[in-house]
Order: sequence, then structure tokens, then C-alpha cells
Amino acid sequence: MKTICKLILSTVFITSCTTKTEYIPIEGKWIKGTQTEQLKTIENQFRGFDKTMVEVGYRYQELYWGGQDENWEYANYQLEKIEKTIKLGLQRRPKRAQSATHFLEYVIPEVNKAIQAEDKQRFNTNIEMMRTNCTNCHIAERVPTFTVRIPTHRQSPIGN
Ligand code: HEC
Repeated sequence: MKTICKLILSTVFITSCTTKTEYIPIEGKWIKGTQTEQLKTIENQFRGFDKTMVEVGYRYQELYWGGQDENWEYANYQLEKIEKTIKLGLQRRPKRAQSATHFLEYVIPEVNKAIQAEDKQRFNTNIEMMRTNCTNCHIAERVPTFTVRIPTHRQSPIGN
């Protein structure tokens, strides 16, 4: 205990004695400028909700085919990633949060119930409900022409 106290005290002392050095920004290969400018560059590169949606669009299709194949582990994986992707997207675009509430609190859990029950019929009912809610959010978020359909073709090489 004594040694720990001494260690803390000496650290405080050393820190308080060091003189303030002039701030020189560390720059990357292409992330340049002041710290604020660099953060802005990084934030822009992360993009907004469009990137979220490109990912959600892909994962929604994979979720659908996972359910058709009754590959419940894969469907579960995709549903978890959809939830994570939307939550991360909302961190970048908090103004979209209100429209996402119903989707996160009701739609995703309902689809999850069908997956856990390994019930294809229930899954298909709930995925239809999800599809409608995807489109509803697009209407709420003023991209009303983005109508979400039930997938007809597989994109990824994963399947039976
Ligand atoms: C929180 C509301 C919300 C929910 C829920 C939502 N979307 Fe979106 N989606 C948006 C917004 C907003 C845009 C336009 C993004 C922009 O303009 O930056 C969009 C755009 C898209 C795009 C076009 C992306 C692109 O740039 O090419 C696709 C595809 C898409 N959504 C699919 C879906 C699917 C599939 C679901 C359901 C599984 C879904 N969305 C659920 C809000 C939502």
C-alpha cells in the first residue's frame, strides 16, 4: 500500500513539473492539419447513414436467404450485424434515432424470435413485417422512393 502511495505521489509530482511543450500535430500520409481538421477528415471518411444502409441492405438479403435455407445460425449472425450497424450509424447520425426506435425495439426482436424458434413460416411473416418497416423508416426519413422488396436473387456465395 505504502509503495503504491509513493508511486502515485511521485507520478503526480513528475507530471506537474514537466514543462508544457508546443503542440505539433502528428500527421498521417493523407490525414493532415490540426487535430480538429484531422477529426473532421476521419468523420467524413466514416460517412453517414448511407454507408450504414448499404451494409443493412446487403445483410437484410443475407438474413432472408439464411432463413430460406433454415441456416438459423447464419440468419442470427446477420440480424445481430444489422442491429449493430444501425446502432453505430445512429452514433454518427443521432437525428435518425427517433425513426429507428420501433425498428430496434420491436422489429428486430420479432425477427429474432422466429430465428430462435427455428420457425420458417414465422420467419417469413416477420421478414415481411421487417420489409414494411424498412420502407416506413425511409418514408419518415424523407427517402420515400426507397421501397424495400423481398429479395429474389442471391448475392453472396453463402447458401445451401
Ligand atoms: C432509421 C431509419 C431507417 C431504417 C430502419 C432503415 N433505413 Fe434504409 N435508409 C434510411 C435513410 C435515411 C437512407 C438514406 C441515407 C442517406 O441519404 O444518407 C436509407 C437508404 C437505404 C438504402 C440505399 C443505400 C445506398 O446509399 O445505396 C438501402 C439499400 C436501404 N436503406 C435499405 C434498408 C433496409 C433493407 C432496411 C431494413 C432492413 C432499412 N433500409 C431500414 C433510413 C432507414
